[in-house]
Amino acid sequence: MTGTLAAPPPTRSSVPEPLLEVRGLIVRFRTHDGTIHAVNGISFDVARGERLGLVGESGCGKSVTNLAIIRLLPKPAGRIEGGTVSFDGQDLVRMDESDVREIRGRDIAMIFQDPMTSLNPVLTVEEQMIETIVAHRKLSKNEARARAVELLGMVGIPQPEKRLKSFPHQFSGGMRQRVMIAMALALEPKLMIADEPTTALDVTIQAQVLELISRLTTETGTSLILITHDLGVVAGMTDRINVMYAGFIVETATTGDLFETPSHPYTVGLLHSMPRVDDREGEPLIPIEGRPPDMRNAPTGCPFAPRCAWRLEACWTDNPALAPLVPGVAVVATGQGATHLIACHNPPTRDEADAGRPTRAGHTPAPAPAGQLDELASLAAIAGHPDGEGPA
Ligand SMILES: Nc1ncnc2c1ncn2[C@@H]1O[C@H](COP(=O)(O)OP(=O)(O)OP(=O)(O)O)[C@@H](O)[C@H]1O
Ligand code: SF4
Ligand SMILES: [Mg+2]
Repeated sequence: MTGTLAAPPPTRSSVPEPLLEVRGLIVRFRTHDGTIHAVNGISFDVARGERLGLVGESGCGKSVTNLAIIRLLPKPAGRIEGGTVSFDGQDLVRMDESDVREIRGRDIAMIFQDPMTSLNPVLTVEEQMIETIVAHRKLSKNEARARAVELLGMVGIPQPEKRLKSFPHQFSGGMRQRVMIAMALALEPKLMIADEPTTALDVTIQAQVLELISRLTTETGTSLILITHDLGVVAGMTDRINVMYAGFIVETATTGDLFETPSHPYTVGLLHSMPRVDDREGEPLIPIEGRPPDMRNAPTGCPFAPRCAWRLEACWTDNPALAPLVPGVAVVATGQGATHLIACHNPPTRDEADAGRPTRAGHTPAPAPAGQLDELASLAAIAGHPDGEGPA
């Protein structure tokens, strides 16, 4: 977190054409327990060949965003209640179910946390791969088998011809995830969505699988949405990052900009709560205090206000829209020149982002209006310091 604050993004001579355009996406779950406001009007693009990271704590709407895009929301509770999703010029929200299924199988591939949920346990890998390949490409069974062998080799499965005859349970977790990547690539998709693809794997295997996804999507020009709660994972794997909180995108920037100039208090909190491998390595980790909001409540004000040390009075009532960090600059949505956007009334300064807390003179977080949850005040009260000040 060093360098100049808020330098205007470099301009790019040609802006890449978006493959995916999400506009004002709203997803809600109607449950017996109330309405869950899972995704609250988010907009973002993914360019052809671009790798986008989607980051945020558990429950912030990362998976639901992507399930909505590919129209796989759990039914009947989950519904897209607003917005548009345009993929390669086609409106996915209003498309017939059968056409979406076709796109899902052919143009958009998904990799989930647990490959067993996507692999059929009673079919060999060969049967599954051939079925997938011939369903979407005009190839004979023999050609499809040859392609399957080639793909298993590409993802680093030893003796691919032999392993093709195995059932999914005969592979280790890491190898199963490689099989999933091979199956996803078999389609030559335009977009790959990887939702926490390595969370279930051993740490040593995680890095290999991530490297594989990154390398193969880059080599094939496939766009990637990589979902993770771990900012460290997206650092070397993505071109841009959307930080999500409570169903909103609260900050978006190129990966370089985000790590160089984190500008939303939530992003600053995420960075200070994760182990570092840079010149700040060894600094104590500071967890983000408090919990994410109950998504059953319709958001009023900034959703991060109850946990935010930078909050002002306005934050309790007025939820800020995403806007350029440098006011007035033209917004570029994708690519290396993408504009750094944040949704915040009172962004941390560079020094404050480095310190992980407000350091300006005279600032105290605005107290919550009556009836509103104030996580900072409750935690301070639990610690026996109702004024929020710890012992010297
Ligand atoms: N089937 C469902 N029924 C009701 N609510 C749901 C359902 N699936 C998700 N939600 C709610 O939608 C919100 C967003 O969930 P989502 O799964 O997108 O979170 P996430 O960011 O992917 O979290 P994680 O990192 O834990 O995977 C949460 O409040 C969650 O409880
Ligand atoms: S300063 Fe206000 S708007 Fe910004 S994150 Fe904190 S509470 Fe939200
Ligand atoms: Mg998820």
